[in-house]
Amino acid sequence: MEIRKMTAAEVPQVAELEKLCFSLPWSEKSVAGELDNPLSVWLVAMEGESLAGYVGSQTVIDETDMMNLAVAPRFRRQGVGEALVNALEASLKDLGSRCLTLEVRDSNAAARALYAKLGFEEIGRRRGYYRDPREDALILRKEWEI
Ligand SMILES: CC(C)(COP(=O)(O)OP(=O)(O)OC[C@H]1O[C@@H](n2cnc3c(N)ncnc32)[C@H](O)[C@@H]1OP(=O)(O)O)[C@@H](O)C(=O)NCCC(=O)NCCS
Repeated sequence: MEIRKMTAAEVPQVAELEKLCFSLPWSEKSVAGELDNPLSVWLVAMEGESLAGYVGSQTVIDETDMMNLAVAPRFRRQGVGEALVNALEASLKDLGSRCLTLEVRDSNAAARALYAKLGFEEIGRRRGYYRDPREDALILRKEWEI
């Protein structure tokens, strides 16, 4: 398994996994647009030519938002999600970011367990933030010294 920066070659697979995992997925065009965004860091986990997972983020000055994280079903529970978030954190430290904030569905037990394991703390809740189905978002954050 190799974790590296997303390139144009992986965009179709990333968009497919978005569709599989989320009710309001990013389009292939939106994902491709991130390649040209100087604020964005997107990483992919590759098993040969197959996409195992990806994480997407945007940083403004020293604060980063994680926008997307997904692991393909056949690669789940093998440490890929954890490795992606850890690799993102390492890249962000190099860029001078000092915190990572994200939103997660209240009912998303797998993701919440992953973020808790990695030291994210709940800092707020947006009521009814998600659609399809309507649900609260928890806002989680992890900070570090740089
Ligand atoms: C959430 C997700 C990214 C986790 O990826 P993963 O590669 O399966 O996670 P990992 O194998 O790295 O798991 C790391 C830790 O997360 C927790 N975890 C992951 N999946 C879990 C599950 N189904 N149930 C309970 N805990 C879970 C565990 O603490 C695990 O550590 P452990 O293996 O030592 O018990 C994956 O389930 C996924 O893609 N879900 C659909 C998309 C999604 O919800 N994305 C997050 C949006 S905020």
